[in-house]
Amino acid sequence: MTYDLVRGMYDILPDEIPWWQLAEDAVREMARRYNYREIRVPLVEHTELFTRGVGEATDIVTKEMYTFQDRGERSLTLRPEGTASVARAYLTHGWQTREPFQKLFYLGPMFRYEKPQKGRNRQFHQYGIEVLGALDPSVDAEVIAFAWSLMEILGLGGRILDCKETACQSFIAQAPGSADHLCPECAAHFEAVQGWLNRLGLAYDMDPRLVRGLDYYTRTVFELMSSDLGSQDTLIGGGRYDGLIEMLGGPPTPGIGFAGGLERLVLVLRERRANDVKTERLDLFIATVGEEGRRVGMKLATELRRLKKISISVDIDHRARTLRKQMAQANQLYARTVIVLGEDEARVGRGKLKDMDSGEEREVPLDPESLAELVYPACDDGCAGGCAGGCGGDSCSDHGN
Ligand code: HAM
Repeated sequence: MTYDLVRGMYDILPDEIPWWQLAEDAVREMARRYNYREIRVPLVEHTELFTRGVGEATDIVTKEMYTFQDRGERSLTLRPEGTASVARAYLTHGWQTREPFQKLFYLGPMFRYEKPQKGRNRQFHQYGIEVLGALDPSVDAEVIAFAWSLMEILGLGGRILDCKETACQSFIAQAPGSADHLCPECAAHFEAVQGWLNRLGLAYDMDPRLVRGLDYYTRTVFELMSSDLGSQDTLIGGGRYDGLIEMLGGPPTPGIGFAGGLERLVLVLRERRANDVKTERLDLFIATVGEEGRRVGMKLATELRRLKKISISVDIDHRARTLRKQMAQANQLYARTVIVLGEDEARVGRGKLKDMDSGEEREVPLDPESLAELVYPACDDGCAGGCAGGCGGDSCSDHGN
């Protein structure tokens, strides 16, 4: 018997992970720049949170939720989105009285029973931000600016954001029918948001037909689209939800945020930046010959991995393969260096370290600290002593000395 993947669920394989990390790192970096703090809410909530929060009549609630009874006969639901949970957490922790102004971000899996297709899955991942406790139109502008900056830092700022013809980027005030029928305060808010967007140089299209599938929205709603995505073309969707906290039993508290699908972002990144994600290289492969070589090799590998001051990646053969096969494995791992250890090397405590790019070999001691110093990759950015956190790390360092 074989087990298939559940429909709409999928594995994210190691080769794809660098793209995910690129996207996730950009979200974290932007959250740092805009000063949003991370929040991690549970995957499971009481069903009522979503029926009330997202809206009883929405597609999400009527057709798409993964709802089940636990053994205590409570009706629970796998979260279909993050906003209701963040609003719940706000109240659970009494922030409405203690610290009513919150700027938060999150990343994680969501679940919706939808028809699977490109860019639409039943388990998918969202990154999102939420600002609670401020009604000023400058917050709407900051949230939209965050979405922009995120695309820019990912190198997606040109076509995607600047497109004038099709709805590359849309932003409207939610209103019955069109922006012409807004209440006076809503109209003033809408105008002020546009003023901010213009002042900040953020281009946008107005789309009076924009409909968002969640009931909690008030005033501003917006989407960011990409033509690379086919029919599921919305990269990011968001808006104001000034009544949500109150609907969940809290005091009147304004809120605004957005969420984007990581799958869709990864699809666009792979399309646009196909050559930009570099294959991770192994710093050192330890090839061994015979039992003695294996014994010394395993000890050295473990000591190297446990070093406090220098961080290098090390691997070793575990299948007693021939030296030729071990060298092939080192090549497959894009190893920068290889050292071969056999009985002789074990006896004299020295070995030959091969630079796999130049082919040069040099004799080195099997002492982990000095070997790590030799293997530690020189960084492209000109840091003389390497970089804290490895190449591409935050700053130049002398290996922490
Ligand atoms: P949403 O429009 O339902 O809004 O989802 C936001 C984004 O999540 C979509 O634009 C899309 O990129 C992604 N997404 C949604 N469903 C799927 C799916 N089945 N497969 C892959 N990606 C998907 C919300 O969830 C709101 N909570 C956004 C928000 C935050 N509004 C205010 N704050």
